Amino acid sequence: MIIGVPKETADRERRVSLVPDAVSKFTQSMVIIETGAGEGADYPDSAYSAKGAEVVSDPETLYSRSDIVLKVQPPSINEVEILKENSVLISFLYPLSNLEMVRHLATRKITSFAMDLIPRISRAQSMDALSSQATIAGYKAVLLAADSLPKLFPMLMTAAGTISPARVFVIGAGVAGLQAIAVAHRLGAVVEAYDVRPVVKEQIESLGAKFVQLPVTAQDAQTSGGYAKAQSEDFYRKQQDLLAEHANSSDVVITTALVPGQKAPILVSEEAVKGMRPSSVIVDLAAEQGGNCALTEPGKTVIKYGVTIHGLVNLPSMMAPQASQLYTRNVVTFLLEILKDGKLDVNLNDELIRGPLVTQDGAVMHDQTKRTLEGPVSVKS
Ligand code: NAI
Repeated sequence: MIIGVPKETADRERRVSLVPDAVSKFTQSMVIIETGAGEGADYPDSAYSAKGAEVVSDPETLYSRSDIVLKVQPPSINEVEILKENSVLISFLYPLSNLEMVRHLATRKITSFAMDLIPRISRAQSMDALSSQATIAGYKAVLLAADSLPKLFPMLMTAAGTISPARVFVIGAGVAGLQAIAVAHRLGAVVEAYDVRPVVKEQIESLGAKFVQLPVTAQDAQTSGGYAKAQSEDFYRKQQDLLAEHANSSDVVITTALVPGQKAPILVSEEAVKGMRPSSVIVDLAAEQGGNCALTEPGKTVIKYGVTIHGLVNLPSMMAPQASQLYTRNVVTFLLEILKDGKLDVNLNDELIRGPLVTQDGAVMHDQTKRTLEGPVSVKS
């Protein structure tokens, strides 16, 4: 088996799907890497060669020789076209947002696995790439906020007087939100946090933050998998009004609220931004899914009503060496599940393997994607 690691082609993507140290994990397979694939993450070609990988000069050679391709970002249509027929692709794929790509993967008979669909079961924790990358995003979000805010985070008692701590409000306490709470707390800010799922109260408090309880209750807030469920427009409107009060008394608002398969809910309205303190900062980690703030411009940092709003996407790429290191662990652990004695063994009875399987033998295997491709599409916004 030949395992191929191409250079990522998506805009501003610096991560690589396999760091040099992992090459030796594959004793019965050969690793080939496209020249420069690790450069953005500070891993030169020579580091891969030193571990026994072969460096190839162009994507065409890489894709045409690889039986298994490891990627970070979903492939472009051009990349799908040069994948070897019947080969395996393991990558973030977000199939519901990339239907055309899924069609092409099926047509080319690629066995594709989406790292974003790894089930969140305890057995799969070391393969949970959503969590590993969200942890980094949560950390970086706080640093971005601290850098943009013209105030110190910690309380300081000096001979020249006392400085009060910054107030940070985190909306959405999943993996990224909890990391943001921990980092902001460690930097000395006073941290409050809110989530539509009341079960996170204890986790928020254990990190030193105050749980914000809103006088509005979500209907059936959580799925059996632990994700938030979409709520009614009326609920979101009430949430916006109530959250505005907390945003207005905060220096930093970090939003991370997502509902799988949906556009991110708007939780910080234009009115709320208007009411915020001058020079305060919003970091919208939901920007990639449209954003939790009504004024977020995905991919940009803008200043509205004196408030800096960061809508930067792909924060893990800004910390590419370690983001790649964690992603490698996720992807390699998964790959070793489907490689037995150097041969491919896709056990469809195993939920860990069946769950992230998107296409196989020309068919779309992921149920929701298949339904979306076949039926009339109804996407809730
Ligand atoms: P996510 O990225 O889908 O969403 C982030 C957060 O936004 C969630 O906590 C969600 O409840 C919250 N949210 C959604 N709508 C909201 C609204 N209207 N107002 C306020 N908050 C809202 O979630 P993530 O980070 O992927 O985690 C989801 C769950 O999965 C968590 O319970 C997490 O602990 C759990 N998990 C379990 C793992 C395991 O068992 N192996 C691994 C990782 C996460």
